[in-house]
Amino acid sequence: FFANVELVPGDPILGLTEAYNADARATKVNLGVGIYYDEAGRIPVLDAVREVEQRLAAEAKPRGYLPIDGLPDYTRATRELLFGAESPLLAAGRVATTQTIGGSGALRTGAELLRKTLPHATIAISNPSWENHRAVFGAVGFDVVDYTYFDPATHGVDFAGMLADLRSLEPGTVVLLHACCHNPTGADLTDAQWRQVIEVLAERDLFPFIDMAYQGFDRGIDEDAAAVRLMAESGISEFVVASSYSKSFSLYGERVGALTVVSATAEQSRAVQSQIKRLVRANHSSPSNHGAALVAGVLGSAELRARWEAELGQMRERIHALRAGLVEQLAEHGAPEFAFIQDQAGMFSYSGLSRAQVERLRDEFGIYAVGTGRICVAALSLGNLGYVAKAVAAVSRG
Ligand code: LMR
Repeated sequence: FFANVELVPGDPILGLTEAYNADARATKVNLGVGIYYDEAGRIPVLDAVREVEQRLAAEAKPRGYLPIDGLPDYTRATRELLFGAESPLLAAGRVATTQTIGGSGALRTGAELLRKTLPHATIAISNPSWENHRAVFGAVGFDVVDYTYFDPATHGVDFAGMLADLRSLEPGTVVLLHACCHNPTGADLTDAQWRQVIEVLAERDLFPFIDMAYQGFDRGIDEDAAAVRLMAESGISEFVVASSYSKSFSLYGERVGALTVVSATAEQSRAVQSQIKRLVRANHSSPSNHGAALVAGVLGSAELRARWEAELGQMRERIHALRAGLVEQLAEHGAPEFAFIQDQAGMFSYSGLSRAQVERLRDEFGIYAVGTGRICVAALSLGNLGYVAKAVAAVSRG
């Protein structure tokens, strides 16, 4: 049966962690996968999360199945975090949220829903985009096309190019948008630019699919949700949001994500939710409890929520400081041209390093970055900043 099965290359991001784990060098640094590490190089367990976890362990509740669309306290809290608790869309019953297996599961389930409901199976993703976007939408039969996004000359957004490309898309095309902390580039739209993008989406009758995996990692919970909030206030009555708590709660392996669909009416919203439940049932049947219970426990308590927001704020501030530190050290090592890293947002920076330079980083220094030149700034620490800066400066000169 398997005699003709081809060996395919490993995943461009998660495959790097496998190679990193197998590397025996003590000085190795993994700047590949998007994970936030603390100063000691560990993935933090947030205090607010630990407190809920201890309570849940003490309660030792029976482990029944969750509803197909997930833990109700979790999905409600997620809607409120995305739109703000006072959003008229929530009051109108137009927002349906489903707990998913991480943000990837939200993308996949959302893709399957749209593949069934939209006749026009084309999706436009930013150039570049997260490596897995193309694979997820391609896997359910979408044609995946690019829209201009990043300008390598400025290390920022080519906004004129983006608008021109969006205007040229066929009505009905799905447009995947990164709400904040653009992965892989770290180049974000301003709120004013979001308003312009939303106008074009409405004018051209394009379908917005927002991916928000980093809420709170750039400016703050509400500020980073600007794209979602502006979309909600606009005349666009239908759109999708895929969101994740992997990063904001440091719960990567718990796979806590959500698919949220805005419909034009409450009745349509119920119909959409019924379709999503069918998709989930035929896929993984129902989601798992633990991670969702942790998030719901934190967001459901005013005190723990405040503590979580403070901890998230500390992670955010530390990333800003690491960006500044990296830029400073690179300049000290003779590479001042990397100053743009300080202006980029979130975990990642599109460093501009070529594939060959990334290979040198790995081979000569044990520093792992994605082949496109994406580095995870949130994986740096004061302890390895100097080493990384020296290595990046060395390969960028060679
Ligand atoms: C990343 O881009 O590194 C993260 O979103 C993790 C992943 O699944 O790729």
